[in-house]
Amino acid sequence: MNNVMRNRRTLLRFLAASPLLSASLPWGRGFAAEAGPGTVDREATAADALDVFDLEAAAKRIVPPAHWGYLQSGVDGDVTLRANQSAFGHWGLRPRRFIDVSRIDYSTEVLGAKMASPVMISPIGGLRSLHLEADIGVAKAARAKNQQHIVSTQMSDVLEDIATARGAPLWFQLYTTNRIEVTRALVQRAQRAGCTVVAVTVDLPAGRNTVTAARLRREDTRQCSNCHLVDANGNQRPNTAAKTMFAGINTEGLGLTSPSLTWDFIKQLKDMTTMKVVIKGIEAREDAELAVQHGADGVMVSNHGGRAMESGRGTLESLPDVVAGVAGRIPVLFDGGVRRGTDVFKALALGASAVGIGRPYAWGLGAYGQAGVERVLDILNLELRLAMVGAGARTVKEISATSLVKA
Ligand SMILES: Cc1cc2nc3c(=O)[nH]c(=O)nc-3n(C[C@H](O)[C@H](O)[C@H](O)COP(=O)(O)O)c2cc1C
Repeated sequence: MNNVMRNRRTLLRFLAASPLLSASLPWGRGFAAEAGPGTVDREATAADALDVFDLEAAAKRIVPPAHWGYLQSGVDGDVTLRANQSAFGHWGLRPRRFIDVSRIDYSTEVLGAKMASPVMISPIGGLRSLHLEADIGVAKAARAKNQQHIVSTQMSDVLEDIATARGAPLWFQLYTTNRIEVTRALVQRAQRAGCTVVAVTVDLPAGRNTVTAARLRREDTRQCSNCHLVDANGNQRPNTAAKTMFAGINTEGLGLTSPSLTWDFIKQLKDMTTMKVVIKGIEAREDAELAVQHGADGVMVSNHGGRAMESGRGTLESLPDVVAGVAGRIPVLFDGGVRRGTDVFKALALGASAVGIGRPYAWGLGAYGQAGVERVLDILNLELRLAMVGAGARTVKEISATSLVKA
């Protein structure tokens, strides 16, 4: 790469991280497309991606290092992050023959939400750090493909605008906060915005150690006070007050999670809202049983994409435990490490009702905005369809544990 091209890429990366500057550029919201997936093959489009890893590579070329680290990081040595993905390799699909698979229907309905397929958009905070289209771009993609969209408490766009862009009820992911009146305000706003489910994240009670993110931050010398607070030593930390869900709320001393919460909180939450309550971050059988006992409407097996505790255990390994604890009483949702339609299939076969993706759609967004997210959904749905054909499962209901074999 010559110096001119290298300087140009450096400039684009800088601008990409600066919402105020990049918003005023002539290419506006599509800076990633202008920069291409790198300047080498700048004509590439989202449609050129053959699997989600092509979009990962494309996003990596444009997203600034600190933001890339934020997205890709696990905790400690990233063991859990890797385990999430490798757990899928422990299962194979059992092909079945002479079943009429000329019509495959992978549509489904979970907690009153009709979905074109069981692939859901899991909540990711701070999406503006990846692409200017942020949550609105994701919502438009979810609308185009009719997939369930769960928005993060830490969303970059305004909830009501995201709801309008989605055109169907969102699900709202809740961080519990250490002040119940703030939690209540968030929940009530989500309900007013038409959300039908609140998914309360419980896997991050008291901090985490995101080593990969910290390493990549060191490579990135930009200071960006648009989204970060910078202390006297030049260290940056996210500015919660700048997050749209906290507009008009006194965020003095506010923590996003509360280490002292216990199961009573689920009742408090149910009393605050008529939305259905899903507990996101259940990994043990006992907790699945307790979730049902405390009135949860659903649970989500999740370890925050390997970003909370370094358990070394992939979510797919926890799924059968949780399914056993729930014993068919409420839906079990799932996310963590899903990169292929066959992964979606395996999670469904082990008892999940729907399956979330995190980083894959963020890669699509980072590379190509809305078009990239749509491409990710298309790829995963195509792969899921082919897995169903091969296993002779014509509907989501026909996907069962008999479709799998230990690899
Ligand atoms: C950059 C990033 C930010 C995230 N932000 C949130 C969040 O705000 N709330 C939440 O409940 N989960 C959050 N998650 C976890 C995802 O919802 C999801 O559980 C996880 O990404 C699934 O794993 P996967 O990335 O391997 O698909 C985040 C994940 C990533 C990668």
